[in-house]
Amino acid sequence: MMMKKIHRFPVFPGSPPAEGPNLIKIASGKGGVGKTWFSITLAQCLSLTGRKILLFDADLGLANADVQLGASARHSLADVIAGKVALHTATQVTGGNARGHGDIHLLAGRSGTGSLSELNHSEINRLRRGLLLASAHFDHSIVDIGAGLDRTVTSFCALPGSVLVVITNEPTSLTDAYALIKLLVMRDPGTDIRIVVNMAKNERDGQHAYASLHRACEAFLHVSPPLAGIIPRDDWVGEAIRRQTGLLIRHPSSPAAHAVALIARDIVKASKARAAGRAG
Ligand SMILES: Nc1ncnc2c1ncn2[C@@H]1O[C@H](COP(=O)(O)OP(=O)(O)O)[C@@H](O)[C@H]1O
Ligand SMILES: [Mg+2]
Repeated sequence: MMMKKIHRFPVFPGSPPAEGPNLIKIASGKGGVGKTWFSITLAQCLSLTGRKILLFDADLGLANADVQLGASARHSLADVIAGKVALHTATQVTGGNARGHGDIHLLAGRSGTGSLSELNHSEINRLRRGLLLASAHFDHSIVDIGAGLDRTVTSFCALPGSVLVVITNEPTSLTDAYALIKLLVMRDPGTDIRIVVNMAKNERDGQHAYASLHRACEAFLHVSPPLAGIIPRDDWVGEAIRRQTGLLIRHPSSPAAHAVALIARDIVKASKARAAGRAG
């Protein structure tokens, strides 16, 4: 497996972000819907705008953000949980402007070291605190949350910021996403939840998936999560993953890259509006 250079970043970069910390949590309930790919591509889109991005792979069970990025991470979240290294020491810079995109500060998860669902209460809280502290040094912190509905998933989703729930137009994805949203709403009815439809056959297929989930959320949970975007099924995605480069570098004008760029644009817009609101 090809591993590209990944350099350690001893401390987080100094100046705090102008628009304040901004956590974006990527969740789904069901695995295999493209959370990790989307997290990476969103991170790349946002870093292209010159923003400082933290990509936090919070999926210890099936972590693979580092693999998809072609980065050989020296440390991982597993080392942080074991108390071997501090969170900022385990975070490494990957990518780089030489490859045509901005740096992403990656905290890798690690596959096969046990699931985050096995963490106890105080371990989860320690990680949550660490992530919150770290996020103060970045413009956007993207958290790739594993599949499932366990306490780790819900407590990471309960951190401040928005939860992007990734779905596909399949019954199992829709029911798992609904179950996740129900848990989040029960915990906090004000949770900022948005829906991303991935692997849509076309716009209509994507709208159909969103409408089904939205109907159930309105009828039974009395919430109306907005649509963040529809990403088409795109063969370039798998090709970029196989080559461990990331879609934005290999195929920046592919349909899926374009769809993620639109979502990133809206995130930047909302972040600027929030900052302006705070200043005014
Ligand atoms: N828009 C897309 N078009 C085509 N294939 C996709 C798309 N998004 C994801 N995939 C494929 O789906 C698979 C699972 O993606 P991954 O990000 O690992 O899912 P998750 O993190 O939700 O388990 C990957 O192999 C990837 O190639
Ligand atoms: Mg994943």
